[in-house]
Amino acid sequence: MFRKLLLWFLLMKYAAPNGDNSDFVYNGFRGTNISLDGSAEITSHGLLLLTNSVQQKGHACYPIPLHFKPSYGKNQSFSTNFVFAIVLHYPNVTSSGAAFVISPSKELPEGHIGQYMGIFNPQTIGNSSNHIALIELDTYLHPEDGDIDDNHVGIDINGLYSIASAPAAYFTNMSGGFKNLSLISGEPMHLWVEYNGVQNQLNVTLSPINLPKPDRPLLSSTVDLSSIVLDDMYVGFSSSTKSSPVSIYILGWSFKMNGQAQALDLSHLPKLPRIGPKKKSELLLIGLPVIVLISTLAIISAVGLIIRRKIKFAEIQEDWEREYGPHRFSYKDLFMATKGFTDKELLGVGGFGRVYRGVLSASKTEVAVKRVSHESRQGIREFISEVVSLGRLRHRNLVQLLGYCRRKRELLLVYDFMPNGSLDRLLFNHPNSVLRWCQRFRIIKGVASGLLYLHEEWEQVVLHRDIKASNVLLDSEMNGRLGDFGLARLYDHGTDPQTTHMVGTFGYLAPELTKTGKATTSTDVFAFGAFMLEVACGRRPIEPLSSVDEVILVDWVSECWRRGTILAAVDSKLGLDYDVKEMELVLKLGLLCSYPLSAARPSMRQVTQFLDGDAPLPELSSDGLGAAIQAVRHYKRSDDLRFSNPSSLELMYASTSSIPGSVLSGGR
Ligand SMILES: *[C@@H]1O[C@H](CO)[C@@H](O)[C@H](O)[C@H]1NC(C)=O
Ligand SMILES: *[C@@H]1O[C@H](CO)[C@@H](O)[C@H](O)[C@H]1NC(C)=O
Repeated sequence: MFRKLLLWFLLMKYAAPNGDNSDFVYNGFRGTNISLDGSAEITSHGLLLLTNSVQQKGHACYPIPLHFKPSYGKNQSFSTNFVFAIVLHYPNVTSSGAAFVISPSKELPEGHIGQYMGIFNPQTIGNSSNHIALIELDTYLHPEDGDIDDNHVGIDINGLYSIASAPAAYFTNMSGGFKNLSLISGEPMHLWVEYNGVQNQLNVTLSPINLPKPDRPLLSSTVDLSSIVLDDMYVGFSSSTKSSPVSIYILGWSFKMNGQAQALDLSHLPKLPRIGPKKKSELLLIGLPVIVLISTLAIISAVGLIIRRKIKFAEIQEDWEREYGPHRFSYKDLFMATKGFTDKELLGVGGFGRVYRGVLSASKTEVAVKRVSHESRQGIREFISEVVSLGRLRHRNLVQLLGYCRRKRELLLVYDFMPNGSLDRLLFNHPNSVLRWCQRFRIIKGVASGLLYLHEEWEQVVLHRDIKASNVLLDSEMNGRLGDFGLARLYDHGTDPQTTHMVGTFGYLAPELTKTGKATTSTDVFAFGAFMLEVACGRRPIEPLSSVDEVILVDWVSECWRRGTILAAVDSKLGLDYDVKEMELVLKLGLLCSYPLSAARPSMRQVTQFLDGDAPLPELSSDGLGAAIQAVRHYKRSDDLRFSNPSSLELMYASTSSIPGSVLSGGR
């Protein structure tokens, strides 16, 4: 038993004379007792940094010599692998390289910088008494050393002339070929050096750090190390720089005598500094505040943008409006539809506000958006409910109201778009294209039927209160459609009853309206009469620049009528291109509707009957009407045109009282 133990002890002693020390692994070098000389150092991150500047040489080795020659004479096998990185401070400016070195001494004081790798000098290089073997990672082409290029791996003995070398490359198991590597890429690379002491075989294998060990070595050479190595040798790394700074790092290292060196734990190797330490602090000093500033500005502007958008598209919406949901448009949609309410989309400026053309992006329908300024919050609820109920009005001679949107101080009403614009534009602003009589007659009849619908055919009476040519719009088939109906109520609701102001347009206002301020279906009929005359005569109801007799259209037409030349009032642009009977009907009906006494005016149902020829127009009493018209003329001159003449007012009262109770024989 004791002999067996002794034998085992002796075997162990001779097989592995350095016992524990012949097998080591460094996953990073922090806190290790690696022997350093020259510029070599361990960085705070645990990297072994051989050189870091110009004209340096650095050497590091395992602190204890390893027994390379056992007493029985054969070479020891060994295996080692390490991860290195060569980082140029200036791109493409390199100098020298690095080497794995097996040397007899712990330090290499004789080594020169530059091409000598810190190992040799001009005197010692090539001398067989050096007893140095090395694996070089050469990044500089020295023709005197027989270098093949400036990026190769070589096996050198006692000097820098390689007995075997190859351009840096690795075998890829996948494609079965070699792929080039750049030693100076700055990326960590893995190198394996394996020596078989029985076969004298030295294999050197290179690969990028992220790949497993390739199946085939880069170099495989027969080398008898027995004449080169001494009994005890130091293993380590050496490098040197010339005139350009290069940082050469060893990240991890594993070695084993007589066996397979342990694999490195790659995930625990220290990280390479990404950029030089100076640049890092510059980045922190300048970059960080800049980044903070930029991101702060970005956040501020984003918040600003959001707030601006919120303000820009802000609407007022109250709980009671929920039931009107389907009629409610979002301001943003209307804003987008009208391209931000640009002047290019402006259709016109009416009494209640500006009207814009728009295209709703969701449905691609064309709409007209009217912006009505509205200061008062009071009564808005009633008005909106009316707007919504007006939205339920459906008639081919009404401009369809689609919905609304409410903002601070502003109401937006969305209507069907009328491609042919307003009638007054065609009547007065288009001298070149004359609206033909048949078209005019159709428009008059259409508007009459639309107004009849408002007055009598819907569930409640809707007064228009502002009938005039500019409120009559033409659809794609040139049908006349009444727009802006019901809008006048906004002012009734919103304003103080004490200061109620008149809604309507001079020339279309029934005389009693200027006295009482109370709109009725009859005041609408009065305005419709003025409108009919306007269309037939191609003149506005009041034209102050005309000769005295012709200032007020109603007066002038009735004058013509009394003289028996009513057709003299016809729009001269029509020439003789009109139906005389229709024209006479329209002119006389216009006079009748514009009759000063409201009780004498026909209803809209009667008007449509006359226009359709379903009822004959009653003969007008020339005396009574003449007297009434006389009165109206003076009344209007004094009131509307703002020159006072009390005597003519008296005359008006006198005249109206003398008008026969019923001008219409076959009327109501
Ligand atoms: C080699 O080195 C040895 C010891 O330093 C020296 O004696 C010898 O002269 C050198 N040989 C050559 C050829 O320089
Ligand atoms: C690899 O490098 C060698 C020598 O530097 C060169 O001849 C060869 O063309 C390179 N191969 C590729 C694929 O770049």
